[in-house]
Amino acid sequence: MHITVINASPCSSVHSNTKMIVDAFAKSVAECGHDIQVYSLSERKQWKEALESIHTNENIVFAIPVYVGIAPSLFKEFIEQLNSFLPAQVRPLKRISFIVQSAFPETTQRACCEKYLQYLTQELNCRFSGILSHCVFYSFIENGTFENLMAAYSYFGKKYTDNDCTFFFSEAGDFNGAEILTERQAKLFVRGFNFLCRMNAQENGCTRDLHDSPYENLNQ
Ligand SMILES: Cc1cc2nc3c(=O)[nH]c(=O)nc-3n(C[C@H](O)[C@H](O)[C@H](O)COP(=O)(O)O)c2cc1C
Repeated sequence: MHITVINASPCSSVHSNTKMIVDAFAKSVAECGHDIQVYSLSERKQWKEALESIHTNENIVFAIPVYVGIAPSLFKEFIEQLNSFLPAQVRPLKRISFIVQSAFPETTQRACCEKYLQYLTQELNCRFSGILSHCVFYSFIENGTFENLMAAYSYFGKKYTDNDCTFFFSEAGDFNGAEILTERQAKLFVRGFNFLCRMNAQENGCTRDLHDSPYENLNQ
């Protein structure tokens, strides 16, 4: 099978979580003997070839990081170009799937984006072929390593091709996670998040406590 994967993160490839996920997914798809082409929207010069690849191939996967509850504007700009580029007669042949990932653990963080992507696929008159949705940042905090997580994306690469290039299988749904966090998960998340914020603040020369709120005393 021929598969086109589009990394829709605006982050440069070196720092992108989406890039790591796409690499793990694509490697396992290729190991199953399929032809896979990967493009990054952060590289503008790849756009033309990416559009042509979507035109040629029937199986398309967009890998999308959630930015402020929705897909990044770069992705929307690319979709506008795709809408002008893709002839009407080939659209119903296109199976479009999505790998959606975010930092915050609740599924509600990604729910709006997922609905939008399904609606968008229908508006394009293409075939909506499922979503693999997951929280990357929390998984990292919980496991302390990206290795297990990347192994999961490799596994789903194989399952995707086994299931006729769709994410319509029960494990994909289970991967999404809990709608609401348990108390333990919430505590773990806050601790991990504060740790990263502190590191970031220190790297940028900040010497004050994270919870410092000097603006509260401004009018006294
Ligand atoms: C500007 C911006 C907005 C974000 N908004 C959300 C959000 O609303 N919900 C969420 O769970 N994660 C949010 N995130 C976290 C990203 O979805 C997450 O870090 C993702 O793994 C980034 O992938 P990337 O490194 O490939 O861009 C946001 C990140 C950025 C930079």
